[in-house]
Amino acid sequence: MKDKFTIKAQKQGYKARSVFKLEDLNRKYKLIKKNQKILDLGCWPGSWSQYCKEILENTGLIIGIDIKEIDNLDIIFIKKDVYDKDIIKAIKEKSEVFDLILSDIAPKTTGTQDSEASIELAERSLYIALKVLKYNGNFIVKVFQGKDLNNYIDKLKKHFRFVKATKPMASKKTSKEIYIVCLSKR
Ligand SMILES: C[S@@+](CC[C@H](N)C(=O)[O-])C[C@H]1O[C@@H](n2cnc3c(N)ncnc32)[C@H](O)[C@@H]1O
Repeated sequence: MKDKFTIKAQKQGYKARSVFKLEDLNRKYKLIKKNQKILDLGCWPGSWSQYCKEILENTGLIIGIDIKEIDNLDIIFIKKDVYDKDIIKAIKEKSEVFDLILSDIAPKTTGTQDSEASIELAERSLYIALKVLKYNGNFIVKVFQGKDLNNYIDKLKKHFRFVKATKPMASKKTSKEIYIVCLSKR
């Protein structure tokens, strides 16, 4: 059975229900603004990029990265694994710095290893953020809760002035995912 956010996403022309997670975070933290350069890690199928595009209204720049090919989405797309050794070079060829980095990357769900794989992806997203996010820039990252989460949050606090883990309304209660809002890179 489709849940209310899936139905709402379809009605409003969004590619995924996850758009409402970003909408919720944006309502609280005012992350997305015109003229920004935004990097969307794990962007497929593209609802987060769609939402950013609406707010940017043909200003700024959105670059999306995923291992899966996107379809019918008007952004700059890099089809790559974030673990690719040339990932920073590939990003910098499009833009040297970003105002906002979003990471909704999720590992393939395999059960007990989910949280470890997710933390590794979150670490990789942080590595990328530290290379291309501007001073005072913001970073949103998804992780599945598990034993390494607190260490990861401590690391984020070294690099950002404000760090808060939160579960947006549209995130399913049964899911271990949470989003960490990191504001103002040091
Ligand atoms: C939950 S989806 C993102 C949904 C997206 N935010 C949206 O709103 O449409 C997670 C994405 O992460 C991507 N992903 C997983 N591992 C990746 C990796 N190593 N490199 C790049 N993308 C990856 C998957 O292919 C998948 O499309």
